[in-house]
Amino acid sequence: KLYHEQYRPQVHFSPQEKWTNDPNGMVYYKGNYHLFFQYYPKATVWGPMHWGHAVSKDMIHWKQLPIALYPDKLGYIFSGSVVVDEKNTSGLGTKDHPAMVAIFTHHDPVGEKNGTVNYQNESLAYSLDEGKTWTKYKSNPVLKNPGIKDFRDPKVFWYAPGKKWLMSLAVKDRIAFYSSPNLKNWKKESEFGQMIGAHGGVWECPDLMPLKLNGKDYWVLLVSINPGGTNGGSATQYFVGQFDGSKFTPVSTKTKWIDFGPDDYAGVTWGNTGNRKVFLGWMGNWLYANQVPTVKWRNAMTIPRELSLEELGSDVYLASNPVKELKNITAKTIKLNAKDLANGNNIFSVIKQNLGQYRLKFKTDQLANYSIVLGNESGEKLIIGFDKKNNHYYLNRTNAGRNDFSKIFTGVAYAPRIDITPSSDLELIVDQSSIEFFADGGLSNLTGVFFPKKPYTRLSILSNGMELKDVEITPLKSIW
Ligand code: FRU
Repeated sequence: KLYHEQYRPQVHFSPQEKWTNDPNGMVYYKGNYHLFFQYYPKATVWGPMHWGHAVSKDMIHWKQLPIALYPDKLGYIFSGSVVVDEKNTSGLGTKDHPAMVAIFTHHDPVGEKNGTVNYQNESLAYSLDEGKTWTKYKSNPVLKNPGIKDFRDPKVFWYAPGKKWLMSLAVKDRIAFYSSPNLKNWKKESEFGQMIGAHGGVWECPDLMPLKLNGKDYWVLLVSINPGGTNGGSATQYFVGQFDGSKFTPVSTKTKWIDFGPDDYAGVTWGNTGNRKVFLGWMGNWLYANQVPTVKWRNAMTIPRELSLEELGSDVYLASNPVKELKNITAKTIKLNAKDLANGNNIFSVIKQNLGQYRLKFKTDQLANYSIVLGNESGEKLIIGFDKKNNHYYLNRTNAGRNDFSKIFTGVAYAPRIDITPSSDLELIVDQSSIEFFADGGLSNLTGVFFPKKPYTRLSILSNGMELKDVEITPLKSIW
């Protein structure tokens, strides 16, 4: 049966076979959420990049379509975005039949090998049949490399107040903003980031978007970084600020992370969804993504997450939480009481079923130490919890299962608690080989993959007497 191999995600998108990394070209159009993805159709390791393609009505159930973009003489097809050119500014479609336009990085492997620096350039491709087939623009590239090795991952949106397209581009240790009237001619507006944020690696995959908080307009800039992530390797930081159509100005200089876990990278949001901003990340880390022990495919995407802002003290933070569409696959919720959970009872024995994929939630008035343990009879276990003394959440996969494939896979990831109230809540999304932890309404998150030799058949919560309220577990039905 397709999509049911060992470790195959049942509630997350993964390609039917072979390699994927970043989500690309996410855009909503005519009832479909499009997802393109960095794809190498010939192997389960990274290689000459294509854009794979999948569509969904709800961002939960996916149908994989034929490959959208193949490498060509200008190079591999690296990450980028897709817009719907409603006003036909590009002339690539018509006003009645607007083109979907992909703006992506052409990465020339020959130039790279020959030691040149200008081997990454931005190019266009367009579709006149709602994304089914794609034609590369004849005068590619449209934005030429000015002589900087890392010059990639264009994310474009229509900036209505200025009647122009805006592109965020990752340029080595900063983000450059460009604008264009027609997607073909680009003018540099400004740069951001050289003196702010984390800088232990190269900046990649930016995304700039407006978000409201209590009626006030803010702009959020997502920036992935690799290496130099908060728990090693790849991770995604964000900045909250103002954008005047040309320049981004942050409201604070603090380094913030959308997810502190090891496996949420290169995430960006869907375009064309109005005020709603939904994020999807790649559930992988460049430290070991090429080695994880799956056979038919390698790597998957996170659960789509709705973004919102929250004010804490004098600063503004980004919260991310599973989208409400998750309800399309929820089975009946089971409520658990203190007796069910006492002594770290195995919840699966209380509810009399072993769940492969589920959602777990609870609240507490006075947050204290707790740990949630997923495990099996072979003694493999994954622990996620809160450490009051250090005021941080943690994800410990030291003994979670297979780790023979990489020396750097095991260990503990920490997420500082950001919320300042005594009460707390948590939501967990557990799949066959991944856990996503959203604490305090999505302010402190941890995402990680795991590979037990045998499926986890135990789930228990140890809360040391701390009162847990509204504890509920919801089985999730497979999307495949
Ligand atoms: C991020 C990234 C991008 C690049 C792509 C190549 O994971 O390195 O910067 O476009 O992957 O596959």
